[in-house]
Amino acid sequence: MALPLILMLVAVSLVRADEDAYIGVNIGTALSDMPHPTQVVALLKAQQIRHVRLYDTDRGMLVALANTGIQVIVSVPNEQLLGIGQSNSTAANWVSKNVVAHYPATNITAISVGSDVLTTLPNAAPVLVNGMKFIHTALVASNLDRQIKVSTPLSSSLILDSFPPSQAFFNRSWNPVMVPILNFLQSTGSFLMLNVYPYYDYMQSNGIIPLDYALLKPLPPNKEAVDANTLVHYTNVFDAMVDAAYFAMAFLNTTNVPVMVSESGWPSKGDSNEPDATLENANTYNSNLIRHVLNKTGTPKHPGMAVSTYIYELYNEDMKPGPISEKNWGLFDANGEPIYILHLTGSGLVLANDTTNQTFCAAKDGADPKMLQAALDWACGPGKVDCAPLSQGQPCYEPDNVIAHATYAFDTYYHQTGKDTEACDFNGVAAITTTNPSHGSCVFPGSVGRNGSLVNITAPSMNSTSSDSPGSYFYGGAFACVLMVMRAIIWSAVLL
Ligand SMILES: *[C@@H]1O[C@H](CO)[C@@H](O)[C@H](O)[C@H]1NC(C)=O
Ligand SMILES: *[C@@H]1O[C@H](CO)[C@@H](O)[C@H](O)[C@H]1NC(C)=O
Ligand SMILES: *[C@@H]1O[C@H](CO)[C@@H](O)[C@H](O)[C@H]1NC(C)=O
Ligand SMILES: *[C@@H]1O[C@H](CO)[C@@H](O)[C@H](O)[C@H]1NC(C)=O
Ligand SMILES: *[C@@H]1O[C@H](CO)[C@@H](O)[C@H](O)[C@H]1NC(C)=O
Ligand SMILES: *[C@@H]1O[C@H](CO)[C@@H](O)[C@H](O)[C@H]1NC(C)=O
Ligand SMILES: *[C@@H]1O[C@H](CO)[C@@H](O)[C@H](O)[C@H]1NC(C)=O
Ligand SMILES: *[C@@H]1O[C@H](CO)[C@@H](O)[C@H](O)[C@H]1NC(C)=O
Ligand SMILES: *[C@@H]1O[C@H](CO)[C@@H](O)[C@H](O)[C@H]1NC(C)=O
Ligand SMILES: *[C@@H]1O[C@H](CO)[C@@H](O)[C@H](O)[C@H]1NC(C)=O
Repeated sequence: MALPLILMLVAVSLVRADEDAYIGVNIGTALSDMPHPTQVVALLKAQQIRHVRLYDTDRGMLVALANTGIQVIVSVPNEQLLGIGQSNSTAANWVSKNVVAHYPATNITAISVGSDVLTTLPNAAPVLVNGMKFIHTALVASNLDRQIKVSTPLSSSLILDSFPPSQAFFNRSWNPVMVPILNFLQSTGSFLMLNVYPYYDYMQSNGIIPLDYALLKPLPPNKEAVDANTLVHYTNVFDAMVDAAYFAMAFLNTTNVPVMVSESGWPSKGDSNEPDATLENANTYNSNLIRHVLNKTGTPKHPGMAVSTYIYELYNEDMKPGPISEKNWGLFDANGEPIYILHLTGSGLVLANDTTNQTFCAAKDGADPKMLQAALDWACGPGKVDCAPLSQGQPCYEPDNVIAHATYAFDTYYHQTGKDTEACDFNGVAAITTTNPSHGSCVFPGSVGRNGSLVNITAPSMNSTSSDSPGSYFYGGAFACVLMVMRAIIWSAVLL
């Protein structure tokens, strides 16, 4: 009887693992000194960015992204959409030249067909669905349709009456296109790509939308927006817009197509009539958004359901026409220098070059050496810390004393468990510190290296599903047990 239940739990956890939300980055290329593809990829690696969206299928980029583990969305540019939407052989050639030729070395996971087509290129709208179908058929012919999904990024301005979300619907003039798009996404197991820009919603609201609500800042409960139909409370524009998309789809009888946010961001600089395009607001929005997405909170309508999001964008694009803000959506300049340091301490490794709240776990001064030794042995044994760097001749061997070695093991364990406070106790002989204990070539997990790249934090080698699994508590508890037994042994030795 118990076995099927276990199998069921395994199946459920696989689905959930599949749905883990991630943060990706869009890579626009309108820079006067666009970095070489290998430099772009070096930046992505240093920033631990594992998901990108390209606006085309630049061969240099696709080659540079090969064998990096980075997952890539490629795009059919709007200029090519008319051709592809009118000829299945043009579509098949496009797929063969730009996708099949690079896969699997380059892990292409989706194709975005056009961008904001309905709002920016309405005359291509009649062929959009055909374009998506032709691309999909070509993938089927190459047996890649399971690995590579086809979608098209939509502007959230297509969603009318977006607040309250429960009353939102797609602009009805576009129903003849939206209905077949949704049917296509549903029948191919794809997702809705939505561009969400609370910056513009805020700008256009004439003061109705408070800035803090757009920036995902914590709000006092009386400032939350309540959907009178569902009584759901919204604390930010982003969630409300994603839920509005779910309701708008449901209005067209589509309830099982997930939303993925293909673009979102905030400009760090603007004209005099864009006073809220500031470094501080851009940093606040993107930092809050990344933490929100990675926290797997989901939206009020679909709590816990991943809304993976691609930040707009990697670089400031100085060649973009239009207002100053258009050129200033980037996280980095052309040299790969950050425009601002995101506040992402404690939310994982992606883009986490924030040293303000760096924490480490160290042995307490004056702790009992026997207790320290026991804790060190536990960490390097049942705790699954890789203690090889502590061996003679390795970078962390010196100074060869129990305090230094225990600190290395404690800190590694602490970072392996996702910096859980309870993981830095070791029965009272360890404490969290903001002082980086790295010395010489002994670089501790969690420290940002001199060149800004994060030191690898290898996941525990146990086969646990994720770093925040209850495993850490289990091991903490196990450690306490071991120590109690050890203490009993020590005490009996003393007494005897
Ligand atoms: C940063 O330094 C480490 C070791 O010092 C090196 O392995 C890594 O490639 C460097 N990263 C970048 C982006 O230069
Ligand atoms: C294009 O469509 C025609 C008619 O449906 C079909 O005969 C042909 O095989 C298709 N070609 C490709 C390349 O898919
Ligand atoms: C591409 O990424 C997906 C998602 O992580 C993974 O399942 C798949 O194995 C990768 N494919 C290749 C060819 O590396
Ligand atoms: C709906 O879409 C049509 C066609 O693009 C457009 O003319 C109209 O202004 C849109 N309606 C609203 C309220 O945005
Ligand atoms: C949605 O389903 C209802 C009930 O089956 C139907 O009346 C309505 O026409 C459908 N709407 C669309 C856009 O298909
Ligand atoms: C993550 O979500 C939980 C539950 O919604 C919340 O209590 C916690 O404050 C969130 N953490 C961050 C860093 O946003
Ligand atoms: C850093 O720590 C301080 C004090 O605990 C806290 O107020 C602040 O929000 C933290 N900053 C970040 C980016 O986590
Ligand atoms: C990390 O931040 C430091 C300053 O805080 C900066 O000098 C460095 O360039 C950054 N590194 C990367 C790779 O972003
Ligand atoms: C970091 O981990 C990756 C994947 O496990 C590995 O290929 C790479 O060599 C490691 N880098 C360092 C500096 O240890
Ligand atoms: C993890 O699981 C794989 C496959 O189930 C197994 O081959 C491997 O030995 C396990 N690793 C550890 C450290 O238990």
